[in-house]
Amino acid sequence: MTTLIKGGTVVSSTGADPAEVLIDGEQIAAVLQPGSDIAVAAEQSAEVIDATGRLVVPGGVDVHTHMELPFGGTYASDTFETGTRAAAWGGTTTIVDFAVQRYGENVRECLDEWMAKAEGNCAIDFGFHMIVGGVDNDSLKELDLLVNEGITSFKLFMAYPGVFYSDDGQILRAMQQAAGNGGLIMMHAENGLAIDVLADQAFERGETSPVTHGYVRRPELESEATHRAIQLAKVGAAPLYIVHLSAAEALEQVALARNAGMNVFAETCPQYLHFSLEDHLDRPGFGGAAYVCSTPLRSREDGHQDTLWKGLRTNDLAVVSTDHCPFCMKEQKELGLNDFRAIPNGIGGVEHRMDMIYQGVVTGEIGLPRWIELCATTPARMMGMYPRKGIIAAGSDADVVIYDPNKQWTISVDNHHMNIDHSAYEGVEVTGHVDTVFSRGRKIIDDNQYLGRAGDGQYLRRGLCQYLQ
Ligand code: URP
Ligand code: ZN
Ligand code: ZN
Repeated sequence: MTTLIKGGTVVSSTGADPAEVLIDGEQIAAVLQPGSDIAVAAEQSAEVIDATGRLVVPGGVDVHTHMELPFGGTYASDTFETGTRAAAWGGTTTIVDFAVQRYGENVRECLDEWMAKAEGNCAIDFGFHMIVGGVDNDSLKELDLLVNEGITSFKLFMAYPGVFYSDDGQILRAMQQAAGNGGLIMMHAENGLAIDVLADQAFERGETSPVTHGYVRRPELESEATHRAIQLAKVGAAPLYIVHLSAAEALEQVALARNAGMNVFAETCPQYLHFSLEDHLDRPGFGGAAYVCSTPLRSREDGHQDTLWKGLRTNDLAVVSTDHCPFCMKEQKELGLNDFRAIPNGIGGVEHRMDMIYQGVVTGEIGLPRWIELCATTPARMMGMYPRKGIIAAGSDADVVIYDPNKQWTISVDNHHMNIDHSAYEGVEVTGHVDTVFSRGRKIIDDNQYLGRAGDGQYLRRGLCQYLQ
């Protein structure tokens, strides 16, 4: 069964040109010059899809999601089934989620547990990082084995003392282990001990509302942790990937390290580019709870958002992921109605990443190729999945999105597909729309319908970070 997508503009990380895409089975067979003999011949035997006036882009690769994450006494509200289906609606065809190991737990058993949650349920292909919440001799040894099974990145936390937190000694040991096995350390860089002191003091003063979450998680405490992580990575001779970076000061630390030639990489997320502490986290009543996430949304007055867009242009920020971690208002965010410290941390956004970063193309912050580089190509390379994922090229998986660059619409809880009772993006007006999505050659979104099935998505055994080879 072959499919020919013709008439569109094929976008890659290096350009955007008219081309025809021939899909054969699960893979891209060829990218053809329009009107070439081979394209004309292909048209005779293939199902032809007319993409005139539209962009043909590689399926998005979101390397930071948390389906079913246990957090703050509850669980992220998207399952692997609902969350990956929503991702597909938004033009993302690959996720890398986080299996979770906590202190005292066996890494292998935890991985098995997470694999069982995902396998047979995903709408799109998926891989795993491992959250290592308990660095000790046993867990460190397991990391070497995981690398051989395609789990080649490990998330550590300088935040959340008593939950996922690692101290500096544990971090250094994990970095040394990664230096030995080729893995990539992903760091949640916030000084969690200092944050907890400020959070408790604020609560004692009677400051209980969601915005306090943003005030106590000060930019200095993200930048200090980022700096410390970088120094530890230098000592441990390990590459480092800073996750969900939101503060301009933290980006400065990343830029310094990169200018010094270190293998330090960083991602940011759509919420940090489009939302702010003043306009979202400080919404009246309990409304700001929808925007409680860590690192927190930053002040618009201090210009963090503009600095992050700049970082996306300079490549000091190389990846945009979502940190998708949805919690309903009802019974979940509400756990912190009278105490911001008890609001589960996270925003649901796996469905909106491609559109929200495309808004940067619309406003001129970035160009079309950079959109694809940030949302598909670099994440695939960073996490060892390229060129199977992240590019439209002969031999790659046929993960292809047909994108209408001009359609205007408004995001709402009434039209999203994530399993959340609200949308952090409610009322956001968007230019650009995911019309059709192929996942390994199967059309799973078309004509405003989901055509896929739970279990279509396959587990991805990833290679090592390809920026280190
Ligand atoms: O607020 C967030 N980011 N929740 C998910 C857990 C994490 O730290 O990534
Ligand atoms: Zn984190
Ligand atoms: Zn996260």
